[in-house]
Amino acid sequence: MAQVDIVDLRSDTVTKPSLGMLNFIMQSCKGYLGDDVFGEDQTVNQLEDKISKIFGVEDALYCPSGTMSNQIAIKLHTEPGDEVICDQNSHVYQYEVGGIAVHSHCSVKPLDGLYGILNAQQIENAIQPIDIHRTVSSLVVLENTHNRGGGSVYKLNDIKKIETVCKKNKLRLHLDGARIFNALVAQNENPKTLAKYFDSISVCFSKGLGAPVGSALLGSKKFIEKGRKIRKQFGGGMRQAGIIAAGALYAIEHNIERLKTDHQNASIIAKELNTKPFITNIYPVETNIIIFEIDEKHASAAEFTKFLKTKRILAFPISKNKVRFVFHLDITKEHIQYLKDFIKNL
Ligand SMILES: Cc1ncc(COP(=O)(O)O)c(C=O)c1O
Repeated sequence: MAQVDIVDLRSDTVTKPSLGMLNFIMQSCKGYLGDDVFGEDQTVNQLEDKISKIFGVEDALYCPSGTMSNQIAIKLHTEPGDEVICDQNSHVYQYEVGGIAVHSHCSVKPLDGLYGILNAQQIENAIQPIDIHRTVSSLVVLENTHNRGGGSVYKLNDIKKIETVCKKNKLRLHLDGARIFNALVAQNENPKTLAKYFDSISVCFSKGLGAPVGSALLGSKKFIEKGRKIRKQFGGGMRQAGIIAAGALYAIEHNIERLKTDHQNASIIAKELNTKPFITNIYPVETNIIIFEIDEKHASAAEFTKFLKTKRILAFPISKNKVRFVFHLDITKEHIQYLKDFIKNL
């Protein structure tokens, strides 16, 4: 079996900037840095302009994290006391430290999506009736791809139906697109076609795209103008942010098409896992994430990942019996061969 360094499958956020990215950061920052709170960092301005054009939206706001982009959007789309509809395992609900309650003072109606994917009927059924006793449903948040759904992807036609329900009931529609390029590449879809169904989108540069930091919130001019103020209130106004924005610019210029390789790698490894009798279930693999279940008689997910670590493979147990593998640009051909051999010999 080939010897390799650590195979880090914990998340696609663990990638390190490549030499090409670091050189680009050095070059693109020379003479272009400025105070972004004053709107004077040319690299940040270029990134906001470029990502807006890719999605065909009016404007964009560079934020330090996907969490901040999502939380700014939720705050802008709601009034205190409103209700936000989302999947029960969505990032905005489960993994943003209760931000919806803290920042926006809203309640959440968590729904049971199929691998995290909601449908229009479910959403329509979840909308609060107009009644003096009831809160107001004002926002739907979709997550595409869906992290805890195993990298599942929305079909464009289903998004269209959800948008129709939102429009009919005067609800806004936000997309947590932390991994939206994975979804677009997997379905060979155009970003502009997708974006027109949403009131706002957050896009992460620091996941599969391999940039070190940041996310963009996309929306109308007016929405982003208000968002800029909320970003400042959240402490997310950055100064010479071109240093990190340059990494994001490089990522969107070089690392979108190659996401296909991560998807292929996930499929190859899922096939190997599928031959193992102690793996009782594997979520459908559509993009760069594999979630699989282990027979508890064999080992718990925590025990299994502890064992993997002794073989230089890092992964997270995401429940008692579920393990997640995430593929990304620092996973090489050699890593894949090592993983295949390792699983074969299990
Ligand atoms: C689907 C999804 N949305 C949002 C985020 C938040 O991104 P960040 O870690 O940059 O706050 C993540 C992070 O992994 C995520 O998986």
